[in-house]
Amino acid sequence: MRMVSAGWLRRRRATMIAADLSLSPFNKPVRKDKIFMADPRFPKLFSPLRLRGITIKNRIFSTGHDTNLAAGGLVNDRLVAYHKARAEGGAGLLIIQVSGVHETARYTSHLLMATTDDSIPGYRKVAEACHAHDCRVFGQLFHPGREIMESQDGSLPVAYAPSTAPNERFHVMPAPMTRRLIDEIVDGYGAAAARMAKAGMDGVEIVASHGYLPAQFINPRINRRDDEYGGSFENRMRFLRRVIAAARKAVGPDKVVGMRISGAELDHDGLTEEEVLEACTALSADGELDYYNVIAGSSASIAGAIHIVPPMAIETGYVAPFAAAVRAVVGGKPVFVAGRINQPQIAEQVLVSNQADMCGMTRAMICDPEMPGKTAAGKIDDIRACIACNQACIGHFHLGYAISCIQHPETGRELDYGALKPATKAKKVLIAGGGPAGMKAAAVAAARGHKVTLYEAGARLGGQALLAQQLPGRAEFGGIVTNLTREMELAGVSVVKNTRVDGALVRREAPDAVILATGAQPRRPAFEGAETTHAVDVWQVLRGEVNVGSSVLVADWRCDWIGLGIAEKLARAGCRVRLAVNGYVPGQRIQQYVRDQWNGTLHKLGVEIIPYARLYGADGETVYLQHMSSGEPIVCEGIDTLVLALGHEQETKTVSELEDWTGELHRIGDCVAPRTAEEAVLEGLKVGAAI
Ligand SMILES: Cc1cc2nc3c(=O)[nH]c(=O)nc-3n(C[C@H](O)[C@H](O)[C@H](O)COP(=O)(O)O)c2cc1C
Ligand code: SF4
Repeated sequence: MRMVSAGWLRRRRATMIAADLSLSPFNKPVRKDKIFMADPRFPKLFSPLRLRGITIKNRIFSTGHDTNLAAGGLVNDRLVAYHKARAEGGAGLLIIQVSGVHETARYTSHLLMATTDDSIPGYRKVAEACHAHDCRVFGQLFHPGREIMESQDGSLPVAYAPSTAPNERFHVMPAPMTRRLIDEIVDGYGAAAARMAKAGMDGVEIVASHGYLPAQFINPRINRRDDEYGGSFENRMRFLRRVIAAARKAVGPDKVVGMRISGAELDHDGLTEEEVLEACTALSADGELDYYNVIAGSSASIAGAIHIVPPMAIETGYVAPFAAAVRAVVGGKPVFVAGRINQPQIAEQVLVSNQADMCGMTRAMICDPEMPGKTAAGKIDDIRACIACNQACIGHFHLGYAISCIQHPETGRELDYGALKPATKAKKVLIAGGGPAGMKAAAVAAARGHKVTLYEAGARLGGQALLAQQLPGRAEFGGIVTNLTREMELAGVSVVKNTRVDGALVRREAPDAVILATGAQPRRPAFEGAETTHAVDVWQVLRGEVNVGSSVLVADWRCDWIGLGIAEKLARAGCRVRLAVNGYVPGQRIQQYVRDQWNGTLHKLGVEIIPYARLYGADGETVYLQHMSSGEPIVCEGIDTLVLALGHEQETKTVSELEDWTGELHRIGDCVAPRTAEEAVLEGLKVGAAI
């Protein structure tokens, strides 16, 4: 697998320093001057791009991303509101999520479909909403081939592909396409493109990336046909060339036709960089495409899919070298790129180093729709940077829910929370707890006009996020604290640290409303033999409060980031680590790309995984687990330290102290029930907006 080189990163950092830009430890930019006009530090980012008949006002775009906001396969008001927010926020171009071009393209049960004229009014609404803010808009033409992710009704659908090559990730054995089906699907691309053009969209993008149907035809390891669509390079390119021709014919000479392609599929039998460059060179010679949109990865395997939405452990801007390679072979046609470009400084650097002509900043705008406008206005400190946690955006998508953002739960909820309503009466609000829940509640309530004071018992704001950022590869998680702190500053929240809220403090302050966001503590249940064993919890390890022996067993009940992270941390410290999960697989409950990437790391580090294992007891250096299904014991000997990752229990001390207080009282986040930062911030938003 090709990763970004150390040299490239050094060069990028050097140029950032030359441009008087710097990043804090949380990848949050630090502004060194005060510029409130169009920010001169981003000359390339805010230059227009001329593309066939249109002008894109700046170089920031949102790549096509499925939102699960649409209903019945058609654009609805929720989806229009979602895109309107990003257009209003200053993006130059929005590429709307994939639209199926044929009935056999239904890869999920909620795919947007461009197969009938019913789709036109919805596309028109999105186009009008974007154009009202001088933002261009393209549609994505999509057929997944064998990459069928979900059933429509519980029964397995037939997936159609060039030939019978199985998919490793979804375990699909496809049916080979007949030539007649190929003709139908090519016509479907044309008809879908025509509908998008009729709706007033500015262009269409053919999705040939991520191992989807056009890429399956190009790939000689997947396409084993012996007719005019298989065998030679020219034959394997025939399907894509027909699709491009159909799209061009359908949209006419003035609209844009582009293509999304993985610069390398980073997959055991996916397209290599050389094969992709060969295809792009040939397409460039044809001269039909207006731009090439480069990404990495493939839907077909665990390793390839990680790059569809790269998690925070992967370096920012790492796809840019692939884009640069494509740019070198496409004869001056614009090249777009995306993949962990989460800050305008990184985008500017990609552009000035001529690696690409447009920067996809998709999660950056899921997290902060106003990012382009804030950048243009020089308000860099105000940007809520995406931390690539993958939790509420692609995480929700894979669970079948509308996408959102853990830092900005307003995303996907624009119709309810798009505009904050000013408070009808300014209240004195007291918030107990400076973790993500309390911070978000404070920022929202103060922004609406309430007089808010937030009390934090410790010396630092952030709650459990301060610990989460200490896990390997998770430093960016601390960005959530930086971002919420800034939101509170902008809203005018007063913060009092090192002060625990109790009944006396509340009676003395006499607020109109109290919000309890006091969080949780590690759960330490009793188990047989605990007193004979060196047992510590994860918080103690992360805080450096305990010594850990060289042979460790991690008992992981939550099956999330904590078990994976502490196992990696201790393995990197030289320990022999056994990770016993009270589930099927480490990270079972977290987004699959994050989990899969992390399990690969643990495998490389030699961490032993014990699945289906609940902690039962211990005796000195022996830990007893119980198989969750058979009930049989699993005996682990030679354990110096048992590390408990057994979840949390709500902190309720303040709650009980306020039992006799009769004023307005709200409880949010982990102090209600221990969950994650996502629920904490969402509940902060809800109470802040309602109070
Ligand atoms: C929720 C979600 C859904 C996505 N669905 C699509 C899709 O429909 N088509 C596509 O080409 N890429 C899809 N992607 C990948 C994005 O287009 C983009 O390549 C990826 O998010 C990396 O860019 P970023 O780091 O700027 O977010 C999706 C990403 C997200 C977060
Ligand atoms: S949920 Fe996480 S990865 Fe997704 S947009 Fe928000 S911060 Fe970024």
